[in-house]
Amino acid sequence: MRAALIVEHGDRSKVVIGEYPTPELQEGEVLLAVKAVGLNHLDIFVRRGIPGRTLELPHISGGDIAGEVVQVAPGVTSVAVGDRVLVDPLVHGQALGEDLRGGLAEYASVPAANCIPLPDALSYEDAAALPIAYGTAWRMLITRGQLQAGETILILGASGGVGTAAVQIAKSVGAVVIAAASSESKLEKLRELGADHVINYSTDDFSRETWRITGKRGADVIVDYTGKETWPKSIRATKVGGRILTCGATTGFDAVTDLRYVWTREISILGSNAWERTDLEKLVELVSTKQLVPVIDRVLPLEDIREAHRIIEERELFGKVIITP
Ligand SMILES: NC(=O)c1ccc[n+]([C@@H]2O[C@H](COP(=O)([O-])OP(=O)(O)OC[C@H]3O[C@@H](n4cnc5c(N)ncnc54)[C@H](OP(=O)(O)O)[C@@H]3O)[C@@H](O)[C@H]2O)c1
Repeated sequence: MRAALIVEHGDRSKVVIGEYPTPELQEGEVLLAVKAVGLNHLDIFVRRGIPGRTLELPHISGGDIAGEVVQVAPGVTSVAVGDRVLVDPLVHGQALGEDLRGGLAEYASVPAANCIPLPDALSYEDAAALPIAYGTAWRMLITRGQLQAGETILILGASGGVGTAAVQIAKSVGAVVIAAASSESKLEKLRELGADHVINYSTDDFSRETWRITGKRGADVIVDYTGKETWPKSIRATKVGGRILTCGATTGFDAVTDLRYVWTREISILGSNAWERTDLEKLVELVSTKQLVPVIDRVLPLEDIREAHRIIEERELFGKVIITP
């Protein structure tokens, strides 16, 4: 089968389109004809190599897989040939595309237990946008963050996959959204997406701006997954009793925390990791019923995988890049 192969860890030239054996089914698995795969910043980290994680190379990344079932292992009854499914990327604590072979190929074998049926109303592209970005944003804002209507939330990196998802979910809750991004064109799109206030944090001090917008109170909730570059200012932009939510650190994890702010303002720092299956089922329902429209920047063929990596690395994207193998 054709696949996007990470042949070595390193720059974009290490991803090549090549042949890879079509997976043979293990017990409890199904084979999918892959129709769409959502890319994430994770695909960049996996390609570069995650410290402490050893992968068998060549590796196929891509954790957000939607496809049609073309074969089932003996004994599998929960899924049938011809079913349209979205795959929950988490398999017993490991992630498809990160620890396990992913979906950037013509076919992918996945556990039948991870298949979520797709209603006809839901396209493969929309479905593939959901698990990692929307699932993570949902857990971070709703389950961990307990975001409430009327609260002011500052979302940094609001133009990315998790970021646009967070803006949409926060608006659906009834929160007041301050969205920060690095260019005027992204700010314009964030306004269209529903952001109440926008900040260009490449030209303006987002902490000061948040202070101004909130009438010198600070934000109730801050989403900071950019990490090292933004963390010190996030702490300063949080109001007394506020909370900071984080699910990652795109610019580095060794961020500086001025503890004086943490104790004097009684700030809660809440980590959030991944999602629950029920979060993904809820998201599938919301998109099927048009209550949520995933933000898709563009859909590209498998052959354009390097271009897709470039768009993410050079911060050109707004929402999700979807690959159709
Ligand atoms: N723990 C989990 O379960 C989990 C799940 C999903 C994602 N994550 C983490 O969340 C973060 C975001 O993931 P994502 O897939 O949403 O990423 P993404 O789509 O690439 O978006 C990241 C956004 O961050 C901003 N950014 C700031 N500094 C950047 C830099 N140096 N390089 C690239 N972008 C930068 C960019 O917006 P501007 O240009 O506007 O600043 C970009 O749109 C990553 O660190 C990822 O590992 C964690």
